[in-house]
Amino acid sequence: DTTLDDRARAILKGNDRGGYTVPTHGLYPYQWNWDSAFAAWGFSTFDVDRAWTELETLFSAQWGDGMVPHIVFHQASEGYFPGPDVWQTGTTPASSGISQPPVAAILARRIWEADAAAGRDRIAALYPKLLAWHRWWHDYRSRSGAVAITHPWESGRDNCPDWDPGMRNVDGSKVGPYTRRDTGHVDASMRPGKEDYDRYVAMVQFGRACGWDQETIVETGPFLMADPAITFILIRAHRDLAAIGAELGHSVTELESWAGELEAGLATIWNPEIGCYDARDLRTGEFAGILGSGGFLAWLSGAAREGVEETLFAIWDKVAYGIPSSDPGSAHFNPRRYWRGPMWPVVNSLIAMGFAEAGNGAAAERLRRETATLIREHGFYEYFDPVDGTPCGGSDFTWTAAVWLTWAG
Ligand code: DGY
Repeated sequence: DTTLDDRARAILKGNDRGGYTVPTHGLYPYQWNWDSAFAAWGFSTFDVDRAWTELETLFSAQWGDGMVPHIVFHQASEGYFPGPDVWQTGTTPASSGISQPPVAAILARRIWEADAAAGRDRIAALYPKLLAWHRWWHDYRSRSGAVAITHPWESGRDNCPDWDPGMRNVDGSKVGPYTRRDTGHVDASMRPGKEDYDRYVAMVQFGRACGWDQETIVETGPFLMADPAITFILIRAHRDLAAIGAELGHSVTELESWAGELEAGLATIWNPEIGCYDARDLRTGEFAGILGSGGFLAWLSGAAREGVEETLFAIWDKVAYGIPSSDPGSAHFNPRRYWRGPMWPVVNSLIAMGFAEAGNGAAAERLRRETATLIREHGFYEYFDPVDGTPCGGSDFTWTAAVWLTWAG
């Protein structure tokens, strides 16, 4: 569809702020980590040089310990909370103090494959930075077996019901006054609630108070949960980075061993009660008991066990459009509230990648078709109601345009 392809390219160019792309105008006025990796993938379909620049700009904000922050505040903006004055990380460029799903190596490998000659020097320069980030995930966040997050924002699936057990133990009552900006851009019914935000802010205040010391945050911070989605993504990303490294002539045994350790650790997030991998509160051991899009990423790392397909596909069959972020049959489900039910084209693109590689071409094609229908009928929105297709959140969204160009269109 050339009209929609043109529109998608125009969105990427329109959201370009010079070397980096904002997820959407207004609601998200900075560079976001995993959004940028998808933007790069989208750019690679028509401007491979610009694709590499996107990743290079993101990694220019990498911390000394290897962490790549979830937001980079390249230039001031009034329209977002919490901005750099709240995070106070003291870094240059200013950034947030947490990370986001490590999809960069997965997509960098695809971008490199799209034009091997053009990408060789760029990926060679990026490789040690990607490796340092993966080491950070291994050293600080993979100790329990699965990958831990210290803030729901780190998962990228902010208010999904997976985090409810950990959130219950975060005290948001003492954060003091603050003004949200998101609800000035998007209807409040499509965003996290005030109690969620109070707790999000409390976790930022904890990080700030300890000078963003990773050890302290992991050991004693208010929130620590194992995230199945990031675990699957990181296993896959370790393998993709190992493939990149081998092609560049590096020894990659370390990356392979990190992937193997995580694979062995998957047993710690298998919840027999729901017959699926599940988010788990690492402070209390409690499982979330949630079936949702996080579990569907198992195929991306080749980790799906027998029976998982039946369990998970049953929740897909309850809606008309794509894989919902949580089970429509559960009490937590809300079809329009951000990650508590909506279908996100970006996550669906990763899920479809896993289906295709596992040999389930029919499921991959069904997912592509359902996603394409939503975009064709409503535009490049951030997320959609999976029951009736209502477009939700921000419009002219970078990663929705990117996955149209690379996958759905
Ligand atoms: C937001 O502000 O909603 C973002 O998802 C946080 O990263």
